[in-house]
Amino acid sequence: MHRVHIATFFTPDRPPVREESSESAANTLRELYAYPAETPRPWIRVNFVSSIDGAVSVDGVSGALGTPADALVFATLRELADVVLVGAGTVRAENYGGARVGAEGRRRRVASGMPEVPPIAVLSARAHLDPQARLFTDTEVAPIVVTCADADPARIRALTDAGARIVTAGDGQITSEGLLAALDDLGLRRVLCEGGPSLFGQLIADDAVDEVCLTTAPVLAGGTAGRVATAPNARITSMTPAHILTDTDGTVLTRWVRMPRP
Ligand SMILES: NC(=O)c1ccc[n+]([C@@H]2O[C@H](COP(=O)([O-])OP(=O)(O)OC[C@H]3O[C@@H](n4cnc5c(N)ncnc54)[C@H](OP(=O)(O)O)[C@@H]3O)[C@@H](O)[C@H]2O)c1
Repeated sequence: MHRVHIATFFTPDRPPVREESSESAANTLRELYAYPAETPRPWIRVNFVSSIDGAVSVDGVSGALGTPADALVFATLRELADVVLVGAGTVRAENYGGARVGAEGRRRRVASGMPEVPPIAVLSARAHLDPQARLFTDTEVAPIVVTCADADPARIRALTDAGARIVTAGDGQITSEGLLAALDDLGLRRVLCEGGPSLFGQLIADDAVDEVCLTTAPVLAGGTAGRVATAPNARITSMTPAHILTDTDGTVLTRWVRMPRP
């Protein structure tokens, strides 16, 4: 942490600020990434890291793209969220465990009326998750599995036995509308979606994305990895920049917010 210097903050409403300590940078980050105070429905914030040349992973995982500044923002976003939403492909590839929040972050969450740690909610039409995986064995809070009514009952039973909270949202397929309704029913309004590309692509296709936080790591990766979003059909959504941050190592952190819906 002490090596992180988010060097310069460019925001539309104030002159560039250069932070000199990681503590003041962390405080500024919490302000810059605050969710809107009121939203009429769950607010879908999506967070990704990519290489300069657009790779979303190296050898199937995103770890090689991480930088200290990206890690700081990643942790900040989790601290601010009611729930971390992620597709099953990412959980399987990255062997996701439960979210971790440090002592100060827990205090801040509790002081603002939130539980100490946000749950991970995994989207899996097939409920195809390993009950022995870290998602179930290395977590402080029960993971939520959002699945379809026709998922294999034996798999659902195994995941329930492993400690999952099962939420059914759709039949054969989960639409973004069904997903938002399920999250709303659970009282989970500040949503942090950590991917992967298939889930992000569907959210774009359904015009369900409110905000994108994108880190560009200062590396070229080549390889065969895909982009941050993939979907069968393209759809243009206009976004407006909320801020651009640069760290001294070249990491660029951007936050983009969807233009207001009519
Ligand atoms: N660089 C980054 O920031 C970042 C972030 C995230 C992921 N990644 C990388 O992305 C790769 C994984 O990509 P991916 O596209 O496979 O990931 P994904 O979107 O996490 O997973 C796709 C799977 O999630 C489930 N799913 C997604 N949307 C659903 C919906 N609407 N309804 C029901 N189920 C849904 C399905 O699971 P079932 O098959 O179980 O039904 C589907 O097969 C990994 O290599 C990972 O490292 C990178």
